[in-house]
Amino acid sequence: MNNYHIPPYKIKAVEAISLIPKAKRIERLIEAGYNPFRLRAEDVFIDLLTDSGTGAMSDKQWGALMVGDESYAGSRSFYRLEKVVKSITGYQSVIPVHQGRGAEQVVLPILVKQPNMVFLSNTHFDTTRAHVELSHARAIDLPCEETYHLDEYHPFKGNFDIVGLEQQIASHKPEHVAGIIVTVTNNSAGGQPVSLANIKAVHAIARAHHIPIIIDGARYAENAYFIKTREPGYQDKSIREIAKEIFDHADIFLMSAKKDGLVNIGGLIAIKDDVPLYQQCLNRVVPYEGFPTYGGLAGRDMESLAVGLEEALEEDYLAYRIDEVRYLGDLLRSYGIPIQYPTGGHAVFVDCGAMCPHIPYDQFPAHAVACELYIEGGVRGVEIGSLLLGRDPDTHKNLQAPKEYLRLTIPRRTYTFEHWQYVAQCMRQVYQRKESIQGLSFTYESPVLRHFTATFQPIQEK
Ligand code: F0G
Repeated sequence: MNNYHIPPYKIKAVEAISLIPKAKRIERLIEAGYNPFRLRAEDVFIDLLTDSGTGAMSDKQWGALMVGDESYAGSRSFYRLEKVVKSITGYQSVIPVHQGRGAEQVVLPILVKQPNMVFLSNTHFDTTRAHVELSHARAIDLPCEETYHLDEYHPFKGNFDIVGLEQQIASHKPEHVAGIIVTVTNNSAGGQPVSLANIKAVHAIARAHHIPIIIDGARYAENAYFIKTREPGYQDKSIREIAKEIFDHADIFLMSAKKDGLVNIGGLIAIKDDVPLYQQCLNRVVPYEGFPTYGGLAGRDMESLAVGLEEALEEDYLAYRIDEVRYLGDLLRSYGIPIQYPTGGHAVFVDCGAMCPHIPYDQFPAHAVACELYIEGGVRGVEIGSLLLGRDPDTHKNLQAPKEYLRLTIPRRTYTFEHWQYVAQCMRQVYQRKESIQGLSFTYESPVLRHFTATFQPIQEK
């Protein structure tokens, strides 16, 4: 135990959770069409669906809510938030938005200046990909090769494939590349970090071709902590200095503040120095999000975000945060359960393709394991695999994801090590009966973002 950090906070308010009996869990899952997204949260004991907006705010953040200025235009709370974001990023312009996808819907279409454009990313998060496609551009993922070697240690499995990036720019022509999106940490690849060396290499290529770099920075503080602890030359720098260096090598910052903003709702756009782009964003933010000094947020939301952004950069907080994820990963590994190793910043990714090779990809092994885990212990995780990926728009065939992950996502400042011991025990039980787990087939499949609303039945009960 003693090589894990201790939480640098104590508990001031608690929220009751309870485990409904197993027979009820089975009943609820059947009612939900074997889709944990469709469960009522009160029927879930430990909810690891996402780390987005599910964390606990601090006493200082709750206090800040009270001083929110709810003026429609020119709110004091906006200027407070703007000051914090400018000091972290060094960027000139800041626009609040209601959440990450709000930032995407404002900025991405502006960058698509002609037909047949592409965005290149270490991996587009699914809403980012959706907004790229809604802007009539294509999203191309270029993760580094190490991402796919799940049990081999590599300090920066979130990195861009630099050779692939150069090849894609050459084959599409630089003027057809709308932007390079660096997702830090790389969520879909296991919350894996990107090194500053990699960001600098991307920056040099982008500069040579005059392509803008966008940081999709929902978890930029966690990424900065990995750089400090793993990348040579950064041990003596503060998290804030490292974050600043990341932003120095980009042009635009889009943030779902529901992660490293430590708030339940909120998002941000920050622009380094492109004044025309900022003007165009203002034109879009008004109809889509709200007046530019609130962008869909209440004044109190902006106050608590201003505090949360600072707290998320505290090194002792990050040390515990990253260790919490590592602790759950270490427990699973000690039971022989295959995971993406080393663990990333916000979740443990269980390799369900390796765990249940008898379930074909289009019967969704990781989703099947998610259902079993709910039945076992009321724990809700989420599939990041072929179910999430969807169908080929032309052939309508189910696409096969490179990996079938079950993501056990860890909300910030919310659960304790006892909860992780419990989750690990539940996973162990499921692992022990892995051969008996059945694949699933659709009873209803929604045309877009199907994983949220689809319903299923176990294959053998057809
Ligand atoms: N970018 C990244 C890297 C994300 O992880 C998310 C959300 C978004 C953008 C979109 O932000 O939800 O505030 O609109 N990720 C959540 C998740 C939903 O569960 O991983 P949003």
